[in-house]
Amino acid sequence: MDKRFAVILAAGKGTRMKSKLYKVLHPVCGKPMVEHVADEALKLSLAKLVTIVGHGAEDVKEQLGDRSEYALQEEQLGTAHAVKQAKSFLAQEKGTTIVICGDTPLLTAETMEAMLSEHQKHQAKVTILTARAEDPTGYGRIIRDETGAVVKIVEHKDANDAERQVNEINTGTYCFSNEDLFRVIEQVSNENAQGEYYLPDVIEILKNEGQTVAAYQTPQFEETLGVNDRIALSQAEQFMKRRINHQHMKNGVTLIDPENTYISPDAVIGEDTMIYPGTVIKGNVKIGADAIIGPNTEIVDSIIGDRTVIKQSVVCDSEVGVDVTIGPFAHIRPLSKIGDEVKIGNFVEIKKTVFGDRSKVSHLSYIGDAEVGTDVNLGCGSITVNYDGKNKFLTKIEDGAFIGCNSNLVAPVTVGKGAYVAAGSTVTEDVPQDALSIARARQVNKEDYVKNIHKK
Ligand code: UD1
Ligand code: CA
Repeated sequence: MDKRFAVILAAGKGTRMKSKLYKVLHPVCGKPMVEHVADEALKLSLAKLVTIVGHGAEDVKEQLGDRSEYALQEEQLGTAHAVKQAKSFLAQEKGTTIVICGDTPLLTAETMEAMLSEHQKHQAKVTILTARAEDPTGYGRIIRDETGAVVKIVEHKDANDAERQVNEINTGTYCFSNEDLFRVIEQVSNENAQGEYYLPDVIEILKNEGQTVAAYQTPQFEETLGVNDRIALSQAEQFMKRRINHQHMKNGVTLIDPENTYISPDAVIGEDTMIYPGTVIKGNVKIGADAIIGPNTEIVDSIIGDRTVIKQSVVCDSEVGVDVTIGPFAHIRPLSKIGDEVKIGNFVEIKKTVFGDRSKVSHLSYIGDAEVGTDVNLGCGSITVNYDGKNKFLTKIEDGAFIGCNSNLVAPVTVGKGAYVAAGSTVTEDVPQDALSIARARQVNKEDYVKNIHKK
């Protein structure tokens, strides 16, 4: 196989987005467009990936990290000018260079492979990925001669009426013989409606040299959607959502209402897990088998074990074991590690806490900066008082302890193994193992007090 290289064009500002965020960083299903493109490109066994950056260069670099090399395009003079910036990385190489726009997030590696096979088959110098569009407005049009051979690409703004009737569009994805690309790109001029150096002009130049120009028309128009504005962004979101959700359903996950289920492209979900509507799964999430998630639940960058049930709750940057029940209306905040067979009930907030196996906190509690052992019962209204306005302190509740309702545990403090805390206590000192701590005022009953007031 020829050596393969890829160039992602990501230097444009994206004026039509009307946004502070650079176009290629706009997320589709929670993942920036340019990252979708890079991840698919990297499936093609590339020898090199070069991303052309300009507007928001630092942000794009941060997003892709060392997955790519970067060439800076200081002024955005057009797509051919953008590709030229990769010259020092690629011009001396022999092989095939794939050029992809950073704003086509739905393009798959399979479609790029199909284009590459076509390229190989025809021994072409360039192969264009084309598609038929219902509404080709805005796209470059593929102009073929009477034999059906591609002659050139005309940009929408430069096209005459007859050319605008053509609904076969340039998807902005191509593969080139690397040497020929960097040789002829020098000849591209900017004499056109936009005063830009157009990459598609390379096709006409190669054609006029008598080189083989090929086109691969994908039946998947959806994949080639170029996102230039927020309307296209919402369409991309719909298509991507459908693609992700179908994949999970094929893998054996039940989605009760896929249109109202939002799953990140990086999520992994086990068989027979059921997801109810209004569920949003963001970032790196792993959910086990036979779990029940939702309705109206948000899970971000977390691991959820088998058979765990999470209803109307938020789980963020945490790990949850197997056979756990969470919610309704619980909030598991970052850096929490919830063990197996745990019960976390309604209106409970947990933050940066290790919560041991079989422990329970069933109602109306805040447990933060804590280490809770196994088989602990935290009664309704248990609060860890973890913050003095400046610093956070640790609460330790050892195995088998029982915390009575409406208790404050003022950290730093430890409740020993098997100890009891009486309801309504405000515990400020450590409780020894197996002790009962009562930290509240004694009850005083004033006989006939009320009756006497009314007499006055
Ligand atoms: C481009 C194609 C068009 C095709 C369409 C497919 C050209 C001239 N036109 O048009 O034929 O139908 O894509 O979606 O190539 N960029 C740079 N530097 C620049 C200019 C652009 O890096 O100087 C990047 C942009 O960030 C973007 C990509 O190139 O990711 C495409 O540019 P864009 O302005 O969106 O081109 P289109 O008008 O959509
Ligand atoms: Ca575009």
